[in-house]
Amino acid sequence: NYPKKVRLVEVGPRDGLQNEAKPVSVEAKVALIDALTAAGHSAVEAGSFVSPKWVPQMANTDRVMAEIKRKPGVGYPVLVPNKQGMNGAVEAHCEEIAIFTAASEAFCRKNTNCSIDESFERFAPVLEAAQKHGMKVRGYVSTVIACPYDGKVAPAKVAEVSERLFRMGCYEVSLGDTTGVGTPAECVTMIDAVAARVPREKLAAHFHDTYGQSLANIMAVMERGIAVFDTSVAGLGGCPYAKGASGNVGTEDVLYLLNGLGIDHGVDIDAVARAGRAICAELGREPASKVAQALKAK
Ligand code: HMG
Ligand code: MG
Repeated sequence: NYPKKVRLVEVGPRDGLQNEAKPVSVEAKVALIDALTAAGHSAVEAGSFVSPKWVPQMANTDRVMAEIKRKPGVGYPVLVPNKQGMNGAVEAHCEEIAIFTAASEAFCRKNTNCSIDESFERFAPVLEAAQKHGMKVRGYVSTVIACPYDGKVAPAKVAEVSERLFRMGCYEVSLGDTTGVGTPAECVTMIDAVAARVPREKLAAHFHDTYGQSLANIMAVMERGIAVFDTSVAGLGGCPYAKGASGNVGTEDVLYLLNGLGIDHGVDIDAVARAGRAICAELGREPASKVAQALKAK
């Protein structure tokens, strides 16, 4: 009982790169984003307007946004934590932003230096500006299964924060297992709790693959009606404020799974794998995605 069609949000250029110590040039990021667009993605998260002291790798997002070839119909969301970030997004003519908070107080503070309530106070002027400029707003909830500082997170708390984001005007709420510790049964329990408060078709799942559970989790939540997944080319990624968390589930891995199930997605797996090899060459590392490794060996 799987969805006929799935939408992927490619987060490699943001979540994939934000934790990489080696600075990636504007040219390399633009080449990556353009290649992911050409591969057929309908959404490519392009960067963040956050403090360059906190996340240096995202400091050139304004130039990246100026130079990518924006394809009509494709979304290029950027992360915005506060009004200052929103000013950057407006100046860069972004058409979509993503606001982000957490279901655990400790992670929220480590990630954004404020409480969950304070994060919503920061969002209010951001949402106002988004409305004025006709920008779409996506919402993220981090630590939907567990917090690296506070331990297990209650599904009811995830539901509460998700509902706040949805009611505030987010067209979709992405549920992040930031540290990649969740297993299918826990993910289903969490999704069902959230879906009692936010329509299921407005939810996306954002899995990190630290414990290798992402594909199993995706299968499990697809059965519960979730049809939007955040994935990262070559399985790049990790959060700077979640030590030891590895990359997002690899886009190539998810595409291979969906192809096997005959689920429509519109993305060319070989083109994604090529884009992944190019950015990995730039970073001097191997793709983390299993499928990317297998395709390379062919
Ligand atoms: P703060 O220090 O509390 O902010 O940081 P502040 O308002 O007190 O300002 C302090 C300084 O930061 C000032 O500069 C501001 O100008 C500057 P100074 O006077 O010291 O030179 N500043 C900014 N600069 C650029 N852009 C801005 C901005 N705001 C303030 N927007 C802040 C608060 C949120 C900015 C900071 O904590 C921060 O940038 N954190 C980084 C958050 C981040 O990017 N985390 C990773 C992404 S989230 C994630 O990965 C999870 C996700 O993938 C889902 C999942 O897996 O769970 C989405
Ligand atoms: Mg993430």
